[in-house]
Amino acid sequence: MIRWRQIQNQWVQPFLINAMDKSLSDHINELADLVDDRNLRDTLKESVVSGQNSLNKVERCFDLLPALPWSPETLAMFLNSWKATHLKMLAIYGLSCRLQRLAMKAEENSPMREQLMLASARNAETSYEDLGLDYGGETHARLYNNFAEQLLGNFPWSLEKYCLQEAREFRGWIYENMVVSEIEIGLLTNMFSEIYNHAEYNIALNAFGTFIDRHYHFSTAERETTLQYIYAHVADETEVDHFLVVVKALEAYSRATDTTIDYQQVGTVFQEYLHRIGSVMESLIAAMERERNAAKNASIAGVF
Ligand SMILES: [Fe+2]
Ligand SMILES: [Fe+2]
Repeated sequence: MIRWRQIQNQWVQPFLINAMDKSLSDHINELADLVDDRNLRDTLKESVVSGQNSLNKVERCFDLLPALPWSPETLAMFLNSWKATHLKMLAIYGLSCRLQRLAMKAEENSPMREQLMLASARNAETSYEDLGLDYGGETHARLYNNFAEQLLGNFPWSLEKYCLQEAREFRGWIYENMVVSEIEIGLLTNMFSEIYNHAEYNIALNAFGTFIDRHYHFSTAERETTLQYIYAHVADETEVDHFLVVVKALEAYSRATDTTIDYQQVGTVFQEYLHRIGSVMESLIAAMERERNAAKNASIAGVF
């Protein structure tokens, strides 16, 4: 049986009330405080400061979401593009394969092989829930499809034409960083994605909850089913655990390669992540504002 349902009755509601007061940077900073490595912790926090402009765009985007019952085209663009900034299971698998391949090249029973295997296993832990390992095989891809279908019915939201160029580029950048670039860059990308997603899913849950309450006539059960994809990441603090295991993966990789973390590189990856996500959100805001202005103009024209 799916664990989040049991948790939901016990503590998701109070958690949601708390979460509503927090900004994206609050969520990220809170989680960064759990990191033992002071340089890594400071770099995470500095990225939040330098990326505040992008974080503001994300918050504005989710603030705007409940404003109108968007046309199917606009909502499809939102859901398709938002999906492209998540669901990186293939990239996680690719990065774990790279670490295992290196481990298999290392001497048998050597500490290097052991640490690389450990790094690979820790990195792979970030995909357990996505694969539905403890949830009867119910993948997050399937939960996302259910989420979109509940909101859009049969509208073909998943067609590539509904994916914004910036979101496509973001998806490609994540894949390249994790599967093609240096392994450290791959681990840093996965790490930042987890801490950012933890923050974003928290505000997205409130935004989509309000959107549904305003514009849909769902029963309580239908509302829960629709939001299940987002709940699955917030309840049980899934992304918190994912972030912490990637920190461990990076530590194991540094031990295996006997290298120290390049904190300048850490900051560059984190800042680019926020810059790219900010561009996606900016385009979504522009699409929603165009539609809102058109609706305003139409209603003014109707008055005269
Ligand atoms: Fe997920
Ligand atoms: Fe995750």
